[in-house]
Amino acid sequence: MCATPLPVPKTLVLIGLMGAGKTSIGKRLATKLHLPFVDADHEIERAAGCTIQEIFDRFGEAGFRDGERRVIARLLEQPVQVLSTGGGAFMDEGTRQLIRDRGISVWLRADLDLLVHRTARRDHRPLLRQGDPHTVLGRLMEVRYPVYAQADLTVDSDDSPPDVTTDRVIVALRQWLGDADSTAA
Ligand code: S3P
Repeated sequence: MCATPLPVPKTLVLIGLMGAGKTSIGKRLATKLHLPFVDADHEIERAAGCTIQEIFDRFGEAGFRDGERRVIARLLEQPVQVLSTGGGAFMDEGTRQLIRDRGISVWLRADLDLLVHRTARRDHRPLLRQGDPHTVLGRLMEVRYPVYAQADLTVDSDDSPPDVTTDRVIVALRQWLGDADSTAA
């Protein structure tokens, strides 16, 4: 049986640590909800004309966060969409406030082993080049998880197929929106 369409009033903003699946789940979510998908990191690189690693090298993490805040503010001015953000975005107070005001935040919560495993596939993340990824991610988890917990929705991202996690987000969203029909879209 087809579920009723879900009217999404504000942009869905995916937050969570590197490797939590924000881009992969975000794309699937956008397809299922018939919304556009946009990736903040990709937009930051496009606006700067260089990679995130190059931005970190030239301007440091603080410079990156400034650009990230500006880009996310611009993306949140656009019509409702699914927005995947980099793992540090919600840690920046200004960005967090923008997301609170103009979006619905969804924390994809994952455990450390899964994050280490997933992020080992590629070597493009500046923070993970600063030390042993297991140690770096473990430290970030301690600092960030209490802040990510302020998100509107929390959904576990585990090693289930991505469509299962995506459906979990939709069920959580339906509940959060107070929709009686909480079956997946
Ligand atoms: C960062 C996460 C990265 C990217 C940058 C900083 C972070 O995005 O924004 O390298 O501070 O956690 P992903 O979470 O998409 O890997």
